[in-house]
Amino acid sequence: MDRLDTPLTRALGIEVPLICGAMYPCSNPELVAAVSAAGGIGVVQPISMSFVHGHDLREGIRLIRSLTDRPIGFNAIVEKSSRVYEDRMRKWIDVALEEGVRFFITALGNPRWVVDRVHAVGGVVYHDVTERRWAELALGHGVDGLICVNARAGGHAGAKTPEALMDELGGLGAPLVCAGGVGDEATFVRMLDLGYAGVQMGTRFIATEECRAHDDYKRAIVDARADDIVLTEKISGIPVAVIKTPYVQRVGTKAGFVAKRLLRHPKGKHYMRMFYQVKSVWQLKKASLQGMTYKDYFQAGRSVDGVSRVEPAGDVVQRYAAAARAA
Ligand SMILES: Cc1cc2nc3c(=O)[nH]c(=O)nc-3n(C[C@H](O)[C@H](O)[C@H](O)COP(=O)(O)O)c2cc1C
Repeated sequence: MDRLDTPLTRALGIEVPLICGAMYPCSNPELVAAVSAAGGIGVVQPISMSFVHGHDLREGIRLIRSLTDRPIGFNAIVEKSSRVYEDRMRKWIDVALEEGVRFFITALGNPRWVVDRVHAVGGVVYHDVTERRWAELALGHGVDGLICVNARAGGHAGAKTPEALMDELGGLGAPLVCAGGVGDEATFVRMLDLGYAGVQMGTRFIATEECRAHDDYKRAIVDARADDIVLTEKISGIPVAVIKTPYVQRVGTKAGFVAKRLLRHPKGKHYMRMFYQVKSVWQLKKASLQGMTYKDYFQAGRSVDGVSRVEPAGDVVQRYAAAARAA
């Protein structure tokens, strides 16, 4: 049995069914390129590319292209937040398509307009989901596959186990990718054997040589265990997985009283989310680049358990591929 030959690898023209997921603020062009060059696929996070790492999107994609000609992906958060953001996202998607990107991972909103644009040029769209009703909606909008975000994921985690999501979504007929909790080769192989067409990993790739995150952040991931991961509402108003640093312990993980009340009302929720978005974009950028000198919100998932050293991203991809071939 060839575990590496899956609907995901076939659709994208890659060798290893392993996605380095988009990460604000940790996705830098060199990391994206290293994962793709090794046979997996790296995903561009446009806000991370421009706001954190200082590359105009087109130049950043061309930088990746100078490092590898293998396929890369693009993360499109299609939530309706503000007109300015939506217009920006539409322009970014045009740039990505013009620069030859053909794999898009949409999240949060209605992916239909992205699907229409990407399918028109023969590309592929997968959508982030945490449960069946979002999966059915996304498939109704024409996406080609689903990124199944489970409870162990870094970033905004889901609520279910990878096994429960497979039970719930396996019958829908779309390729499923497991996102969350994969930090070692054995878990990678187990997820493929469970029926997933691939995995999406984030946390593991922060602790790599190509990731531009601060060394303090990488060390915190290497040192952390699954029990050190907590969900905080302080960053974006909805739970985000972070390492329980002394700072996080001190300030707690619950949204404040006023924020909570505002989040309950549609209008208040809209403004609160806008406030949180601006605040979190700055705060996470600083924590990622300045290490322990700032408020240390180090986002990471429970897959920290499998991470014992900082290494080249390509070595991770190759090691996982070898394990899947040998199992
Ligand atoms: C620091 C960090 C930032 C993330 N930012 C994003 C993002 O901007 N967009 C997105 O769709 N997913 C984001 N994610 C989720 C990842 O793409 C991926 O699905 C997740 O990390 C998988 O779980 P793992 O960390 O256990 O490997 C982020 C994850 C982390 C750890």
